[in-house]
Amino acid sequence: MSNPVIDLLDLKKYFKEVKAVDGVSLSINQGEIFGLLGPNGAGKTTILNILCTLLKPTSGNAIICGHDINKDKDAVRRCIGIVFQDPSLDDQLTAYENLDLHGRLYHIPKDKRKQKMEELLELVELSDKRNVMVKTFSGGMKRRLEIARGLLHQPEVLFLDEPTLGLDPQTRRHIWEYIEKLNRDTKVTIILTTHYMDEADVLCNRVAIIDRGKISAIDTSTQLKKQIGGEVISIKTEDEFHPDQPWIKNVNKHDGCINLTVEEADQKLSLLMNIAQEKKINIDSVTIHKPTLEDVFLHFTGKTIREEEANWADAVRTRRRSRSR
Ligand SMILES: Nc1ncnc2c1ncn2[C@@H]1O[C@H](COP(=O)(O)OP(=O)(O)OP(=O)(O)O)[C@@H](O)[C@H]1O
Ligand SMILES: [Mg+2]
Repeated sequence: MSNPVIDLLDLKKYFKEVKAVDGVSLSINQGEIFGLLGPNGAGKTTILNILCTLLKPTSGNAIICGHDINKDKDAVRRCIGIVFQDPSLDDQLTAYENLDLHGRLYHIPKDKRKQKMEELLELVELSDKRNVMVKTFSGGMKRRLEIARGLLHQPEVLFLDEPTLGLDPQTRRHIWEYIEKLNRDTKVTIILTTHYMDEADVLCNRVAIIDRGKISAIDTSTQLKKQIGGEVISIKTEDEFHPDQPWIKNVNKHDGCINLTVEEADQKLSLLMNIAQEKKINIDSVTIHKPTLEDVFLHFTGKTIREEEANWADAVRTRRRSRSR
């Protein structure tokens, strides 16, 4: 049974001509780990900032735990916790002091605050570092402390903006384990943003693919991959190869590869090789794989997430250059 705690209703946020969020509607169920997956500049942080009531939407609305983000900011703020994309701990304070400060800001009574802080330091395995100044912490330890802080006032919903950005693979896995554990133990609903395919794949119950302010697809990662169906044959060739066949379900070209989605790839591969031979196409290599989230992203947006990020970086560089002129 679905039980939505968050409803986004045609949410839009325009910054002058930039349509950062361009009509996003979705529902997130109680207890879900929900991922917003998209490249740099897709609009992920803007969505979170609107849901946290830090930004006013241009139009549209969202209801969080029954409260309207446009009309009832305080009630919304009471039921959410957030871990920002950019680190926001006080480096000159200890782990304990950082948590305590947050608890006081939320007016959590002293005894309750102490008890919660102990529990959470335990949960993120930082109990023995409680009196250590945060400036000596590693990136992963800081992230864990920020997650603990976001949970201190027992929010029903926790927003995590790029929880593992810039962390090494081992630390990222560790953070995933904490996120899963706290979702399991506290039943908190978690909405996270990421541009890591593996993070969305492993951690999230459902994923929304977001590109240029719009949602291109929402489902479990398994279902998203199933929507593509079959298998993907990637053929690397420098020649123009157009194997127009009715059994090819989808075609994408990028990085000097033509990617064909087909059923029964082993059989189709020999047919494709025959066609290539007839057309005198030189093939450098061929691989077959089950669809990945990367293929899903390519299917729905026509680009890989890396290409999107490269385009975005180019656009930013161009803008900077024209400004400096
Ligand atoms: N305060 C602002 N003023 C003007 N433009 C903004 C502002 N905040 C965001 N934008 C623009 O809105 C778009 C979406 O930005 P946003 O930060 O939401 O993307 P994101 O998906 O979180 O990206 P990243 O993965 O890099 O964090 C970008 O084009 C960005 O430049
Ligand atoms: Mg962001």
